[in-house]
Amino acid sequence: MKNIESKLKESRSYKPNNTFVAQSNLTVNLLEQLHKSYKNDSDAFWGKLARQNIDWIKDFKTICSGEAPFYKWFEEGKLNVSENCLDRYINKNKLAIIHISEDDKKKSISYDDLYYLVNNFSYALKQQGLIKGDRVIIYMPTTPEAIIAMLSCARLGLIHSVVFAGFSSESLQNRINDCKAKIIITVDGFKRNGKIIKAKETVDQALSMGCPSIRNCIVFKNLKNKIEFNKNIDIYWDEILSSKQQIVKPEIMSSEDLLFILYTSGSTGKPKGIMHTTAGYLLNSIITNKWVFDLKENDIFWCTADIGWITGHSYVVYGPLATGSTILIYDGAPTYPDVDRFWDIIEKNKVTVFYTAPTAIRTLMKLGENLPDKYNLESLRLLGTVGEPINPKAWVWYHNKIGNSNCPIVDTWWQTETGANMIAPIPGVTKTVPGTCTHPLPGIDIGIISDDGREITKANQGGNLVIKKPWPSMLRGIWGDETRYQKTYWKKFKNKYYVTGDTARKDEDGNIWIMGRSDDVVNVSGHRLGTMEIESSIVSHEYVAEAAVVSYKHEVKGEAIHAFVTLKNNYIDYMTPEFAEDLRYWVKDKIGSIAKPERISFSNALPKTRSGKIMRRLLRNIARGENISGDTSTLENENILKQLQNIL
Ligand code: PRX
Repeated sequence: MKNIESKLKESRSYKPNNTFVAQSNLTVNLLEQLHKSYKNDSDAFWGKLARQNIDWIKDFKTICSGEAPFYKWFEEGKLNVSENCLDRYINKNKLAIIHISEDDKKKSISYDDLYYLVNNFSYALKQQGLIKGDRVIIYMPTTPEAIIAMLSCARLGLIHSVVFAGFSSESLQNRINDCKAKIIITVDGFKRNGKIIKAKETVDQALSMGCPSIRNCIVFKNLKNKIEFNKNIDIYWDEILSSKQQIVKPEIMSSEDLLFILYTSGSTGKPKGIMHTTAGYLLNSIITNKWVFDLKENDIFWCTADIGWITGHSYVVYGPLATGSTILIYDGAPTYPDVDRFWDIIEKNKVTVFYTAPTAIRTLMKLGENLPDKYNLESLRLLGTVGEPINPKAWVWYHNKIGNSNCPIVDTWWQTETGANMIAPIPGVTKTVPGTCTHPLPGIDIGIISDDGREITKANQGGNLVIKKPWPSMLRGIWGDETRYQKTYWKKFKNKYYVTGDTARKDEDGNIWIMGRSDDVVNVSGHRLGTMEIESSIVSHEYVAEAAVVSYKHEVKGEAIHAFVTLKNNYIDYMTPEFAEDLRYWVKDKIGSIAKPERISFSNALPKTRSGKIMRRLLRNIARGENISGDTSTLENENILKQLQNIL
């Protein structure tokens, strides 16, 4: 019965409305042509798109060269990303950024303004003696200055690595040291939920723990709150700007030069520095903004992602600006001062395209299901989601209440590693079904493969989600760790396919349903976290002996973290709710709030195999309230399961 019921729910489908179809960038015919041209000659397909969408300083000679897993794209081509985002849109009287701060100050920045601001800051960075290839850490909230910093790095050929400003000093220090950054750019502070977050203090802590490569810290006076100013390292943003307007010629970059490194969690404790290059990344960002978000120059696109995530890179900064549209950025909490903040911003600013995460949709739905009724959201014409599967209930609410039953919803599947959307509906063409990201985009060859390497063709049978052919915005590796790159993404199927780490199935209509991860990665509120990373932060506490982290289903966050912890013998008196609370904050300090476990339970031991391996599968069953499945005969101490089940 349960299955039949859910099947019925899933078969609700939605066709794009005629008004949308009439104006959409891609039509049924155009989409068919794109798929056909890729099938006929993939190189010709990508070459044509690259010439149509990017302004090249020098044309490329080859399209895709090299062999798995080390592909190269558009070799010998020369270009500059900031030139593609700025120079080609100036003198057109066009708006680039609408910035809304948490305390509701609004700032509008035209493409001309942004061009001059980026040139001036680029000049200042150059004066600091930075040269092409140097790494720069950006530890800032989503403000115009963060975007100026990113585009200035791109203009000079500096490799930026944006670190989400909610990360702790330790996470920041790890990232700085991994990429050996010379400069860190930050703010004095920023506001979240009405409180001041002292970003500069976190930077100071990170630097005091040891970051030998850092020469300077550039501080933008965002709130003008008091900071500790270290005159050996710190410099103020406004004080290094030249008093007269400077113009900096864009650095001539090769297609394969690195544009940025972005750290993401993997299944081991150490985050991976995902590397993206100039031309390939730019191309997929642009075309997906046009195809999936149907972006046009008169759109006001609000992607709510923070610039610290890949979504902020591709759908706040690079993609939309290189497409010449207007972006809205909101630097604040979604529920501040009240839970209708998003709807208020959409109404006031006439947002046309809105892209957010299922966790935000679920939170706002829970807190004010009918609140959107009070707002005029008619400016919206397209909605998107990303980061985790969206449950049909939230999808339908989003469709009815936010989209007025009128806007297509694009559920976009992709990863930090893929650089841009890979599986997503084409809004003027695809019939959408709540809960599926539908079909691969043109040029993206997706497969579902069994563990023994066979392609699964039978409908609804799950397997490993892989990408079978290279694509321009694919990651080029992990910074400083070639072996890990090969092992994580290519080894499983002997270099034949890129392994996403997700499992998926295809239904009878070819719609792809993401089923979850196949590795030790959890997805909390759309953020990827390695369970190992959280475990190692817990065991670094003096009282803790062992920890095992698993996830369970959570109504709002999608998945939440449950940590099973044992304490050292002389600290067993601390198996208390108070100490559990202390530990949650310990993890917050070590990694950041997003990693704070929802639940912590203490026990005398953890279930282990006789060889000493923690059986996370059993802990998962317990955390999820399921019956213990599979064989438990290899357990060293079966009684421990009873103790753990009694705790919950
Ligand atoms: O498991 C998939 C999930 O998020 C992972 C990628 O995380 P990250 O690199 O942080 O990038 C998030 C933003 C692109 C994927 O491996 N994921 C992403 N989008 C979806 C999704 N799961 C289901 N549906 C999606 N639309």
